[in-house]
Amino acid sequence: HSQPIVIQGAMDIEMQDMVAALKNPKEITYGGWTFWQGTIDKQPVVISRTEVGVTNAAAATLLAIEKFNPKAIINQGTSGGHDPELHRFDIVLGQKSINFGKFKSEHADLGAGINPEAWIPEDVSLRVGGKSEYFNGFAGDPELIKVAQSVIDSYKQGNVVTGVIGTADEWNRELDRIAWVHENFSTSVEEMETASAAQVAAAYNVPFLGIRILSNSEPQGEDWDPKAGTYCQEYVLEVVKALDQTY
Ligand code: 5AD
Repeated sequence: HSQPIVIQGAMDIEMQDMVAALKNPKEITYGGWTFWQGTIDKQPVVISRTEVGVTNAAAATLLAIEKFNPKAIINQGTSGGHDPELHRFDIVLGQKSINFGKFKSEHADLGAGINPEAWIPEDVSLRVGGKSEYFNGFAGDPELIKVAQSVIDSYKQGNVVTGVIGTADEWNRELDRIAWVHENFSTSVEEMETASAAQVAAAYNVPFLGIRILSNSEPQGEDWDPKAGTYCQEYVLEVVKALDQTY
């Protein structure tokens, strides 16, 4: 039978509406990660609760691929704005996702202080097809982006744009730090899972797309709102229905 689409969300507020939308849901847990297998519009879908952070996201993605053999993976959910133009409830389609938490520093003497702005960003390494390579981010699948763009008009809560999703086990609120990451990594938003899931998907050559809604924007002074989790799922469900027709 045909391969499913895996849709990932870190927390219940980011995936429970999609579980509710599944026909004939079957719940399966491996270790700390739960999956819900079912169909949406006859299309096989697996909803994955990845849990929060890069290690959880990598583990959940590896399990998803090995256990369900997906034809594509969508990682979606909430994020914080880095691009000062974006507002809460805008959605970013990840042209690229990038780990912005990997650095090395030059030697400094005891007492010289800590200087994060001087830390040197490092690419992540991944073995693909037997060859170890370095990645300055992972591209979103162009075909998935096209399908996601085809349903932009259905989304009424904000704008849908393409951009860069920045991933790290960090929640930044210092405006200078946010501006620095935005400048050095071209990030549209920050969150804690997408680039990690994308990295594992890349090792298996599984088409991947990150879709992230702003649930908060420090540059805009807009506080975290859990409704973002619902709005993002509504949009992603439209994407899944469009995939059914074209993908
Ligand atoms: N910074 C980091 N992670 C965020 N998330 C939402 N907003 C932000 C933010 N500003 C998401 C992460 C993680 C959870 C804490 O919420 O992806 O799963």
